[in-house]
Parts: sequence; structure tokens; C-alpha cells
Amino acid sequence: MAIWNSRFKKSLAESALKFSSSIDLDGRLYNEDIDGSIAHIKMLSKAKVISKDDEKKIVHALEEIRKEISEGKLKLTWDKEDIHTAIEERLTEKIGETGKRLHTARSRNDQIALDEKLYLRKEIDKLIKLISSFQKVLLKKAEEHKLTIVPGYTHLQRAQPILFAHHLLAYIEMLQRDKERFCDLLKRVNKSPLGAAAFAGTSIQIDRNFTAKILKMDSIIENSIDAVSDRDTLIEFIAACSIVMMHLSRLSEELILWSSQEFSFVVFDDEYATGSSLMPQKKNPDFAELIRSKTGRVYGSLIGLLTVMKALPLAYNRDMQEDKFHLFNAIDTTKDCLKIITELFIHTSFNKNRFEEELKGDLSLATDLVDYLVKKDVPFRKAHHIVGKIVEKCVENNIKLHQLELKDYKKFSRKFENDIYNLFDPLISISNKKSAGSTSPIEVEKQIKKWKNIL
Ligand code: ARG
Repeated sequence: MAIWNSRFKKSLAESALKFSSSIDLDGRLYNEDIDGSIAHIKMLSKAKVISKDDEKKIVHALEEIRKEISEGKLKLTWDKEDIHTAIEERLTEKIGETGKRLHTARSRNDQIALDEKLYLRKEIDKLIKLISSFQKVLLKKAEEHKLTIVPGYTHLQRAQPILFAHHLLAYIEMLQRDKERFCDLLKRVNKSPLGAAAFAGTSIQIDRNFTAKILKMDSIIENSIDAVSDRDTLIEFIAACSIVMMHLSRLSEELILWSSQEFSFVVFDDEYATGSSLMPQKKNPDFAELIRSKTGRVYGSLIGLLTVMKALPLAYNRDMQEDKFHLFNAIDTTKDCLKIITELFIHTSFNKNRFEEELKGDLSLATDLVDYLVKKDVPFRKAHHIVGKIVEKCVENNIKLHQLELKDYKKFSRKFENDIYNLFDPLISISNKKSAGSTSPIEVEKQIKKWKNIL
């Protein structure tokens, strides 16, 4: 019989209970549920709403229940409506009448809101650690590839040569913002909804700040209606996960591209690649592909929870029970993907010399020719036009920039001298970059140093 059943003549139909039970999801919140209950009980005892003796009995029994669940002795089965019910019923089974005092001045509405926040706090910590581990692996690769030259792209068209380390450092920056987003979110996670009761507060003299303090939260969510109705902290969390996934997906896409025969830049260890059941020569980048696709799961959860919430009147509605499906999906998928991409990166090699020959005199050095003219006082737009014409000639004759003779260069501008041929070495192009944060080895080294300190 359900904990709320006395005003009903019959129990829930089995199918209805099965349909509505959330224990398969919220079962994983048992630790947080018990932590919240213990804090609540301590507060009730301090406020003299229950006796010291009852406090002791209840806390002791709750700790036993925690152990029973963790050891699999207490099974969390669908015949319980949710984790709160399962624990309260077991408590009463164990200590009788005293157990029935646990829910004094509390509702499952403030209880679930609290459980989720406590859980989120732990998971945010784990996510931040996983991101840091991945950043460290990226940083190590960046150090290994301090002088590896690759073509950089815009519009996926060859744009300018860059250091591969510079490219990897861009991902480290992105991931740092991801961590900052989670850290910022903690401010809102660390506010306790407990004591809001169903939504309107309670006539029992409780101390909400005391429970918040025991649970190491910064403060309470003051408005009791908001306390039980808010799910935007969860939505914000899933949004932050979505951005992490978007970053991982972009990197995955690049790995997939680079591993193609056309690029031949990336080789995955056999342990992190798959074959084809039909074409014996294939080596497929499945893990990067799966990260790219699992991004859809997390985005799905973001839209999923936004949709659950979009038309809900205040305060609690049972619809909100579905939040856990999306919350856990986002947590699990993001963590799994962070773990596997870290491993994948450790087990991936990048071909250092792949682009060295190819980029010599490559048209992607055209911007350096423009800068050359600008430094000789040719207005930028004019210089751009001149070099555009040179590129046209090279394309027509199917030659590279260094294969055009000086006398031909001079036909485009008298300012060209023999020293332009120095520019056609991509490493010189890269080293010539002067601006802060650019791809020059000096700037890249600075960034590597900075990240070594931070990470
Ligand atoms: N299982 C419910 C949830 O996750 C707990 C709160 C239920 N409250 C209620 N009044 N039925 O949202």
C-alpha cells in the first residue's frame, strides 16, 4: 500500500504503478536521499520537533539501509513508487512507529529537488576531473607536436599552415571554458530546497538554514514555491554537457577526416579501430564516429527536459519526474565519451612529416606574400589583388609559388625581390607570425607553458 493511500478505497492498479514508478531511475540517488534525510532528522531534533532518542534510532537505521542497498540486500523493485518511498517503508519496517516521523515537515517534492542537487554536485566534480585528464593528454600531444606543421582550414579549404600543437591547444581552451561553466553552475547547485515542504512551507518550526549547513550548501532557495518547481539548474547542467559534447564531436569529426586515406595524418591503434565484415582492407574510426553521434543523445536530453518544463504551471507536477531520465542520460553519455576520447587520443599517432613536402610553396602561403608587399608599403587591398593574380597564374600553370621565377613575380610588382623565396618554407611562414596567441613557435611555447602551470 502506497504511503499516501488512506483516502483511497483501492490500491493502484499494477500496470499504473509499473508505469509511474521512477525507482529504476531514482534508485541511483539512494545515497543522496539518505544524506538529505539524515540532515533533516538532525534539524528536527535540534528544533525539538523529534526527540534525541528518535534522531539516534532513525539515523542508525538509515545508515543500515544505505548498507543494505549498496550490498544489494535491499532490492529496489518497481513495486515501490520511488526511492523515497522505498527507504521510508524499509525504515518503518525496521524501527516501527519512530520511522514514521521521518517525513515530518517534508514532502517528496523538496526531497527529490534536494537529492538531485546533491547528486549533481558530485557528478560535476567527476566531470571536471575527466575534462582535466583529457586536457592533459591533449597537452602532451601538443608538446610532442610543437614543430609538426599542418594545413589550417577555414571553410574546410586550405587556409594557412599552422603548428599542430596550436590546433590542439585550441581544444584545451574550449575544454577550459567547459570546466568554468560547470564551476559557475555549482553556485546554483549549492542552494538547498529542503524545508520548502510540498511548496508552501510548513507550520512546523524548522530551520532550513541548518539543514543547508549540514549538507555543506551555501544557502537555501528562499522562495518555497521556486524551491520545488525549479529545474533550470538541471537544464543548465545538460546545456553545459551539450557544449562539452559539441566540442568532443568537432574533434571527433577531425579525427575521422584525418584518418581517411586522403589525409593519412592519423593512425589509430588497432585496439581503438574496427574492421569491415565485407571489405578486408578497412580500418574504421568507429569510436570517434560514436562520440559524434552520441552528442545527439545529450542534445536530445536538453530539448527533452526543456519540453517537459515548458508549460508546467507552478508548483510541482508529476511531469517533473521525467527530469531524471534526461539528467542521467546527459551525465552518463558525457562521462563515457570523455573517458573514451581520452583513451583514443593516447592510442592515436599523428604523422609528423605528413605535410612537410606538400606545403612547400603551397598556395596557402599566399597571405605571406601579401604581408611581404604590405611591409614594402603597398596598401593591403592592392597587395591582396596582386597576389590574387599570382595565385591565378599558378593555378593555370599547375605550379606552386616557389616554382614561379622572380622575373615573373616582378611582372606583378616591382617590389618583389629574391628574398620572397624564403617565404615559401611553411616553417618560416609560421615563425613570422608576430601577434599574441598566434601559431608561431614562440607563442605556442608560451601557451604550452601556461597550460602546464594551470593543469
Ligand atoms: N518520484 C517523484 C519525482 O521524481 C518524487 C516526487 C513525487 N511527488 C509527488 N507529489 N508525487 O518527481
